[in-house]
Amino acid sequence: MHKDIEKVLFTEEEIRGAAGRLAEQIRRDYAEEEDIVFVGLLKGSVQFMADLLKQIDLDCTIDFMCVSSYGKGTKSTGRVNIIKDLSEPIDDKNVIIVEDIIDSGNTLSFIKKYFSAKNAKSVRICTLLNKPSRREVEIDVDYIGFDVPDEFVVGYGLDYREYYRNLPYIGVLKPEIYA
Ligand code: IMP
Ligand code: MG
Repeated sequence: MHKDIEKVLFTEEEIRGAAGRLAEQIRRDYAEEEDIVFVGLLKGSVQFMADLLKQIDLDCTIDFMCVSSYGKGTKSTGRVNIIKDLSEPIDDKNVIIVEDIIDSGNTLSFIKKYFSAKNAKSVRICTLLNKPSRREVEIDVDYIGFDVPDEFVVGYGLDYREYYRNLPYIGVLKPEIYA
């Protein structure tokens, strides 16, 4: 285990299992649909997105978007900046947003409105982690891997100051690292 990690919350195997469970739900929900696009939010969703897509048995395309709401700390600023936009139009598409973690809900609520304004046919959210105790804006989350307590977690795509994204598990960061 990395020296800055206090404890492991979810192992790679558990995360793959959760991705498989969500992939099956999505496959059932979208079995009658066409024009399905998975939009991964960079950079946190990359590891989970790969696990999920490999287990999705549907015809689909993928795209990525990069937004920032955080700056370099551990608290959301509530403002969302688009750093990289979609590369293909999404009008009349069934969009499934793939995210690493939903915390305040500010990022996803912004993106959902943004996609609706671009005339997506439907927009749903699939997140690896959910921190319901920290919500500032109400948001429907359609597919959730795990609920997590109010602790700062890293690994499997999630970062602190851009580090730890490569860890093959999700762990709680020792508070002295960001204190
Ligand atoms: P929200 O807009 O507050 O919901 O924030 C969502 C974004 O905040 C996520 O995409 C993450 O990048 C980041 N974030 C929130 N909580 C954590 C955490 O515990 N660890 C790492 N990143 C987090
Ligand atoms: Mg992020």
